[in-house]
Amino acid sequence: MLFITLDKTSICSVLLFLCFVVNSVWAAGLNEEFTWTRIDFAWPSDGKLTPRLAYRGSPYESADEEAFYFRGPTNAENVAIKNHSIINTQQTVNKTKSESVTSRGSIDYRYVNNIPMGANVWGDKLFITIPRRRLGVPSTLNYVPLNSINRHNVPLIPYPNWDINIFSNGSENAQNFVSVYRVAIDSCDRMWFVDTGIIEIVGNPQTIKPHQLIIINLKTGAVTHRFNIPADYLTPRTILSSVTVDVTKDTCDDAFAYFPDLAGFGLTVFSLSEERFWRVNHNYFYVEPLAGDFFIAGHNFQWSDGVFSVELGELKQDGFRDMYFHSMAGTHMYKVSTKIIKNQTLATRSYHGDDFEVVGDRGPQSQTAMADLNKSTGVMFLGLVNQNAVGCWNTNSNLNTISIVQKDDERMIYPSDVKVYGDKVYILTNTMPEFLYGRLDYDRVNFRVWSNDIHIAITGTRCQRR
Ligand SMILES: *[C@@H]1O[C@H](CO)[C@@H](O)[C@H](O)[C@H]1NC(C)=O
Ligand SMILES: *[C@@H]1O[C@H](CO)[C@@H](O)[C@H](O)[C@H]1NC(C)=O
Ligand SMILES: *[C@@H]1O[C@H](CO)[C@@H](O)[C@H](O)[C@H]1NC(C)=O
Ligand SMILES: *[C@@H]1O[C@H](CO)[C@@H](O)[C@H](O)[C@H]1NC(C)=O
Ligand SMILES: *[C@@H]1O[C@H](CO)[C@@H](O)[C@H](O)[C@H]1NC(C)=O
Repeated sequence: MLFITLDKTSICSVLLFLCFVVNSVWAAGLNEEFTWTRIDFAWPSDGKLTPRLAYRGSPYESADEEAFYFRGPTNAENVAIKNHSIINTQQTVNKTKSESVTSRGSIDYRYVNNIPMGANVWGDKLFITIPRRRLGVPSTLNYVPLNSINRHNVPLIPYPNWDINIFSNGSENAQNFVSVYRVAIDSCDRMWFVDTGIIEIVGNPQTIKPHQLIIINLKTGAVTHRFNIPADYLTPRTILSSVTVDVTKDTCDDAFAYFPDLAGFGLTVFSLSEERFWRVNHNYFYVEPLAGDFFIAGHNFQWSDGVFSVELGELKQDGFRDMYFHSMAGTHMYKVSTKIIKNQTLATRSYHGDDFEVVGDRGPQSQTAMADLNKSTGVMFLGLVNQNAVGCWNTNSNLNTISIVQKDDERMIYPSDVKVYGDKVYILTNTMPEFLYGRLDYDRVNFRVWSNDIHIAITGTRCQRR
């Protein structure tokens, strides 16, 4: 009877011991959904670019005058679903000069500086963000159709459009997106993100506008909310590179957003119904001094990133959730109830007693950038940056059951984003340490979006419910 339904799960439940032994062999892991050697875009028509020629003299203007004129009849909407090799023939690129710097009218595009940091999914869109950490990023918030026929080097389509993504230095159009690290998508079909407002030109960062929380209605593509985050709730060192939204389908107006501040070592909180921010301080948000050494892609370096991402569990009896959090330079997992975080009085009191709990130590080399959690099963996925791996932990089990879903020292370098959407998990790997400390080869695949059904991904790991 059992061997008629001969799948891994049923064998595992019968032959527990065997299952333990062949665990790593059987882990189904993740599939490469999309790959890029370098990032390219679905360019708009010349007509749209012309008005932008005004930005002469701004620090963002390309020094290189070599022109890349886009001549194809394409527009942003229909490009990516076509065959990319056809699109390529419609672009006239003269590669005789410096290949890495091309200027399309006023759009400064240097593919070497376009490193995707965030990925997320809604409906048939796979969103890809590229923060402006260097010059030459034409558009910071983008997507590709999830159902693209092509899966390799699919050009990014600016979201919701080109106009709002093209760099504006603030004096002309303060509404444009400057720099977005990662986005959250909530159960009310909204996208939330922080526009840091900063162009991080190395050694000379340009602050274009204050940190801004932006909410987009994904059904219409309209920006519905913008809130400047008051300086009182930030620090001079602040970096807000992710956001987690706390809401249910039935309480869309009563949403909270949590912003871990990885360099300011705190948590900024926002209440949508009150349109108010506050800031939570705790020593658990800091870097763990003994866990700051990284060895990735052949490079040794030290990072000092504190609280990096927060993950929310399912609603509990008391109407609140467990909020899990961790520092990137750290190996511990912590938790606190949102009963504390959502109540400004409790969240900001100077003595926190035992509100904040240490869940445990994940073990050596378990430094984690982003993580996300499937609320109904309690399974968390973790981007194990120091192991070129993705891990999982079933939050209903002891932390020492943390398992490797997949590890690949060649193809999984730097899992920069981890998102659970519906019954699937999505991971973006971007080879960032090689970009920062070495040299990327833009003729090899550097950027990947991996995914799989959650249950298949954890098959054979200790994250499965038995
Ligand atoms: C913004 O653009 C205006 C007009 O082009 C220019 O005068 C100004 O210096 C620029 N400011 C920054 C911060 O780039
Ligand atoms: C894309 O177009 C090229 C050239 O026309 C063709 O060789 C290739 O098979 C096409 N690929 C797909 C996936 O349609
Ligand atoms: C590329 O540039 C070279 C040298 O400037 C020129 O001779 C050639 O015609 C150009 N090719 C195209 C396709 O524009
Ligand atoms: C916040 O917590 C305090 C102390 O427990 C309580 O008195 C107050 O009613 C709470 N506020 C809200 C909005 O729940
Ligand atoms: C968790 O996974 C289940 C299927 O396994 C899915 O139906 C559900 O939408 C997921 N929940 C969340 C919050 O992602």
